[in-house]
Amino acid sequence: MATIGRSVTIRRALVATAFLLTILFFLNRSHQTTPSPSATTLNTDSSTQVSETFDKPGGGSIPPIADQKPLRDLSDLSLYEKLAYQYPYNVESKFPAYIWQTWKWTPAQAEFHFREQEATWTVQHPGFVHEVITDAVAVHLLRVLYAPIPEVLEAYHSLPLPVLKADFFRYLILLARGGIYSDIDTFAIKSALEWIPKPVPRNSVGLVIGIEADPDRPDWADWYSRRIQFCQWTIQSKPGHPVLREIVARITDETLKRKRDGSLLKMSDASVVEFTGPALWTDSIFEYFNDGRYFDKSVSEGEISWRNFTGMSKAKIVGDVAVLPITSFSPGVQQMGAKDYDDPMAFVKHDFEGTWKPEKLRHIGG
Ligand SMILES: *[C@@H]1O[C@H](CO)[C@@H](O)[C@H](O)[C@H]1NC(C)=O
Repeated sequence: MATIGRSVTIRRALVATAFLLTILFFLNRSHQTTPSPSATTLNTDSSTQVSETFDKPGGGSIPPIADQKPLRDLSDLSLYEKLAYQYPYNVESKFPAYIWQTWKWTPAQAEFHFREQEATWTVQHPGFVHEVITDAVAVHLLRVLYAPIPEVLEAYHSLPLPVLKADFFRYLILLARGGIYSDIDTFAIKSALEWIPKPVPRNSVGLVIGIEADPDRPDWADWYSRRIQFCQWTIQSKPGHPVLREIVARITDETLKRKRDGSLLKMSDASVVEFTGPALWTDSIFEYFNDGRYFDKSVSEGEISWRNFTGMSKAKIVGDVAVLPITSFSPGVQQMGAKDYDDPMAFVKHDFEGTWKPEKLRHIGG
């Protein structure tokens, strides 16, 4: 017993060391290629200020949201502002060539049963850095990335269910590093380089999302939590995207509030969809689309709602967000207008095997 215990500890230490070296390597690399502050040191150079200007539906430009002063002391900022300071957004930057996945085991372990799925991401994305991150490694990585904002780490550690942590992790890693997050049970059918329609300039898009559900039936509420539900099993983003900033701030605040009032541990499986899952993701995106800080409501006509996305068969660009039709991330579901896996718009195939969520709870909260 003692020998086994010790060798496990040594192996863990080796894995942790290797992983930290990998992180340092990435941090170093991103230092050399981009002027943004690294995770461990705050850059005080005011030339790193990033304007959030981009074209919105009605034309014109969007004012910068946070006054990113070169402060070292972040304590007088709101959580949202701290996140904006730590991970500024630049729509004109490139989509980082990362693929992030999480699972209980790494592909090097015998228990890993998603090799076929995992390989499709590597094959479709030569030159990308592809990481399958276990819970233990996620803890190390987040500690590095969010050290200056300890409330985020406290919230992550306080979440009582693995599914909540898995949801939160995807938003955290994309906010900090950008790239593609995809659930482990997902096949890449087409390279992400082809996800955004050709005529759309890459430097005008910072977030690529797909539709999980578009239930055009009177009893839709029996099956789904929202009339249009955006999926969060595959997301592509540039670092610092405001939707990610908003959702991270919201999950952090809500988790810590529930922790303090003692209701966090009482949370049922059924509330996951609303707390961290696709319902919250969908609401955050619609709020962004209708947020006067980002979109000049005096120019664009009317509220952006599910009506703008129902029945889509082509991608739609709203501000800096590319919304893909249901076929792209949910092909072959044989309902809601989704076409099959061989359709030119089918980009990923999601199996729902590596999802922590029971069947019904994936779509509808309690
Ligand atoms: C969304 O739909 C509303 C009507 O429901 C319309 O007024 C608005 O212009 C649409 N916006 C976009 C960006 O398609």
